[in-house]
Amino acid sequence: MYNHRIKHPSLLDKIITAPQAAAYIQNNTVVGSSGFTQSGDSKAVLPALAERAATDPLQITLITGASLGHGTDGLLANAHVLKRRLPFQVDPTLRKDINKGEVLFIDQHLSETAEQLKSGHFPEMDIAILEAAMIEDDGSIIPTTSVGNSAAFAQLANKIIIELNMSVHPNVKGIHDIFFTGNFPNHRIIPITRPDMRIGYHSIPVDPDKVIGIVITNEKDSPADIAPPDTCTTAIAGHLLQFFDDEIKKGRLTRSLLPLQCGIGKVANAVLSGLLDSDYENLTMYSEVLQDSTFDLIDAGKMRYASGSSITVSEAYYEKIFNNIDHYKQHMVLRPQDISNAAEVIRRLGVIAVNTALECDIYGNVNSTHVSGTHMMNGIGGSGDFARNAYLSIFVTSSTAKHNDVSCIVPMVSHVDHSEHDVDVIITENGLADLRNLAPRERARLMIEHCTHGDYKEELMDYFKQACKAGGQTPHLLHKAFSWHTRFKNTGSMKSDVLQPEIY
Ligand code: COA
Repeated sequence: MYNHRIKHPSLLDKIITAPQAAAYIQNNTVVGSSGFTQSGDSKAVLPALAERAATDPLQITLITGASLGHGTDGLLANAHVLKRRLPFQVDPTLRKDINKGEVLFIDQHLSETAEQLKSGHFPEMDIAILEAAMIEDDGSIIPTTSVGNSAAFAQLANKIIIELNMSVHPNVKGIHDIFFTGNFPNHRIIPITRPDMRIGYHSIPVDPDKVIGIVITNEKDSPADIAPPDTCTTAIAGHLLQFFDDEIKKGRLTRSLLPLQCGIGKVANAVLSGLLDSDYENLTMYSEVLQDSTFDLIDAGKMRYASGSSITVSEAYYEKIFNNIDHYKQHMVLRPQDISNAAEVIRRLGVIAVNTALECDIYGNVNSTHVSGTHMMNGIGGSGDFARNAYLSIFVTSSTAKHNDVSCIVPMVSHVDHSEHDVDVIITENGLADLRNLAPRERARLMIEHCTHGDYKEELMDYFKQACKAGGQTPHLLHKAFSWHTRFKNTGSMKSDVLQPEIY
């Protein structure tokens, strides 16, 4: 009954159950799994592993493309299966274990995992679990809604378990473009000069002899839960669109802009939705994640082509896309994440990158990962790949968090993910600071005047002025630079008028 999905005859005999597949995973092994921002992840074998661990404790290193859906990271964390985890996660249970020091989390640029594995910087990968929609005559697999690191895992793992997902229609074939760069010192040029270029194969090559089992599944991806635009995100999107308009007037951009990368989430969604009501045309994306708003732009005839590594959409959009996949195939492609996030291509195409910050400082350094400098939120994801190499690197954040008790514009960021050298523009709901070609003292004035919330502006300006008196290219008062974070820790608010103990 699976002949039309498993075209390589010898693999038909390898169908097993999820618990049987999970039994192949031994204590202390390195496991790779497909899955990128909840899409195309393992839906049977990893949950079965978590269940097995209840009676047969074991620990593994788990490497994925990015985050998993269906609460799988939480299940694995609860079952204490995860010794090491990389390169990204968004799960609240796992996050707690990471911050307790119980799971060793390696927070890595998403473009780099495949390269690190290929170069032998990790122990060998014992088993890869790869979701597929179909297995071709030659044993190669058609991935589902993401490519992520699956192509690299298929090459590098000693053994492979395939999760054949019957809920994904085989007509998904044709949306993927699999390209291998090879190893150093013979790393190949990635010959992408436009987002719509296809340079590789439709399927991921798999050696059938490595396949130890095929598990049949029938479950869809976890749907993306995207908050609709609110006053804050709409204001941020408005400032960004105004900025684009100004750049067009100055002749530095056209109405087609340049290929866009947008981080996932409510601000990115508001920005892309803003483009829908504009007179932009022939837009393109060279991004990681294709979300609902990408498909709205395609439907409206505004977006000509979108390149990513995963489709992460709401339930309604999932149905719409896969019921009309032949149409959307002409407008999109999914690539391995070392290609979607490749520095070389991002720089060549002149990508406009829009990512979200947890906090920014007055000089334009950005923290996207560590709350108060110590506690992991999700990870850097692809934001660093894009921010460092983009033509325009833009960061957005609301000016405050935690009901105004936290200012997201601070004297000095408590952790640096994106340094001032990689950040061109910062936007909050209050305004936009165009930091390009400004010296640190000029940047600070703009950040305070344009981006900072009214409750914190005066104190931040006061800090800056005092720091300037002390001197320096990038003036700081080191004994006070983190005083806002300390105050928040001690009193629950960064505001200076809150009754507080001695903190300096
Ligand atoms: N200090 C403390 N907490 C802060 C904070 C700050 N400066 N800024 C935000 N937060 C808290 C919020 O209060 C919220 O907490 P809650 O979950 O308890 O409500 C949480 O952080 C998330 O903030 P939110 O405003 O909802 O932002 P978001 O969902 O847009 O996520 C990032 C923002 C930075 C966490 C997210 O974009 C991210 O993980 N970025 C890194 C990866 C990345 O950029 N990938 C890009 C390619 S997809």
